[in-house]
Amino acid sequence: MYKLNQNETPLFDALMEYVNRETLPFHVPGHKKGNGMDETFKDFIGPNAFKIDVTVFKLVDSLHHPKGPIKKAQELAADAYGSKTAFYSIHGTSGAIQSMILSVVGAGDKIIIPRNIHKSVTSGIILSGAEPVYMQPEIDKDLGIAHGVSPKTVEETLKANPDAKAVLIINPTYYGVATNIKKIAEIVHNYDIPLIVDEAHGPHLGFNDKLPVSAIEAGADMCSQSTHKIIGALTQCSLLHVNSDRIDTRRVQQVLNLLHTTSPSYILMASLDCARRQIALNGKELLDKAIGLADYVREEINKIPGFKCFGKEILGTPGAYAFDSTKITITCKDLGITGYELDTLLADRYHIQMELSDFYNTLAVGSFGDTKEGMVKLITALKEISLEYYSKNNKKICFPDIPEIPEQILIPREAFNSEKTCVSIQDSIGKISGEFLLAYPPGIPILCPGEKITKEIVDYVNELKKAGLFVQGTEDPDVENIKIVKKEDAVYIDVT
Ligand SMILES: Cc1ncc(COP(=O)(O)O)c(C=O)c1O
Repeated sequence: MYKLNQNETPLFDALMEYVNRETLPFHVPGHKKGNGMDETFKDFIGPNAFKIDVTVFKLVDSLHHPKGPIKKAQELAADAYGSKTAFYSIHGTSGAIQSMILSVVGAGDKIIIPRNIHKSVTSGIILSGAEPVYMQPEIDKDLGIAHGVSPKTVEETLKANPDAKAVLIINPTYYGVATNIKKIAEIVHNYDIPLIVDEAHGPHLGFNDKLPVSAIEAGADMCSQSTHKIIGALTQCSLLHVNSDRIDTRRVQQVLNLLHTTSPSYILMASLDCARRQIALNGKELLDKAIGLADYVREEINKIPGFKCFGKEILGTPGAYAFDSTKITITCKDLGITGYELDTLLADRYHIQMELSDFYNTLAVGSFGDTKEGMVKLITALKEISLEYYSKNNKKICFPDIPEIPEQILIPREAFNSEKTCVSIQDSIGKISGEFLLAYPPGIPILCPGEKITKEIVDYVNELKKAGLFVQGTEDPDVENIKIVKKEDAVYIDVT
């Protein structure tokens, strides 16, 4: 099924050759194979990582102009994932998403995006000067989370905006819920524009039939995947795939070069090279194990009073077409505590660190790094918490309604670059936001630069803060104040 030998790890091998040659380093980094490194740090890390912490030279190739092992490593990634071309990103999927956007839209171009975007999408839109047209994702009120956008929403938005230059969707969501992406690809391609996919949470999808279909398999034109989140690459490593002739791969390379450091970490890139080999050769078995453990923990959690953990029964509800069962969303509202409180209890009392929490839920990310012992520890902790809170805590946890998407007065770039003044959040109602406001994680914007602040938004922010959830994005870390666009800068655009 693969065209290339997926056993090969060209970049890792080149680094091994550098190590075996016992090369004398007169290049950066200045620690020179660890010799100049702080001893405490070095003792902790061990000697080997420093030996492959090198810079760009012929033997190890250049990420910006790959001709040798990095080129080959990227070709192997494309082969493993079935894409036309693959690029390494060591700025995570955030950097890859910015690159995807800058590759397909320029100043003034319309790009259709869901509202529950990661903040890197808005960063890409600010950098490009494009005009975002938002789609409302399907909201699951019972769980208090957003799923994907439905094909119908995509169709209607395209009908209303036939001049759009691209559509971007998130698939699957942080919580593992996938939309009908094949159908969406068909709809978008009827307009002969590219479908680009934020597949941050799906670098494993193509490797096991029990998982939702991947963006590449579904016919998306371009996607980015956080290989560091789910498969074995180190933090910051992601892949950007190009999968059709609607995308100019040379432009993608140029944009990546524009945004990426000229000193990419070879430790990171080598980890991606090896993680690709691992998923290509052993992905099915490893994912069978991860899915099995996640299904086991889900079943056990569903037996504990006060907890719920959704699985495939969610399919068929709006926006939920397929489910990645490695994601374990623990819903605790019947216990009378917020997801954030549960997250804190698990971290502080049991030293179990969850991935994220929101009003009703806390999320455990499953992967083939999990063990049965780890799952049992989580179940035991949840049983204790249930005994402590269930039927003793009458607090009703009620999720405030997510505010309507506010009116866009300025495009994000104009607002971001305009002169601003700072006002208290309470006094900002009716003003144009100069900043982001995000509930983080998972980084869903409540407000983007250029949008009109409503009372509903201010109330929502106050409720999130009261519940102890993370609200951020403003320069003021406590979100007491927000920067608004100075009146004279607010040149109104036609947003109808
Ligand atoms: C939906 C989504 N897209 C993009 C990203 C950014 O990925 P990265 O952390 O690899 O930059 C995240 C990160 O959590 C995310 O949740």
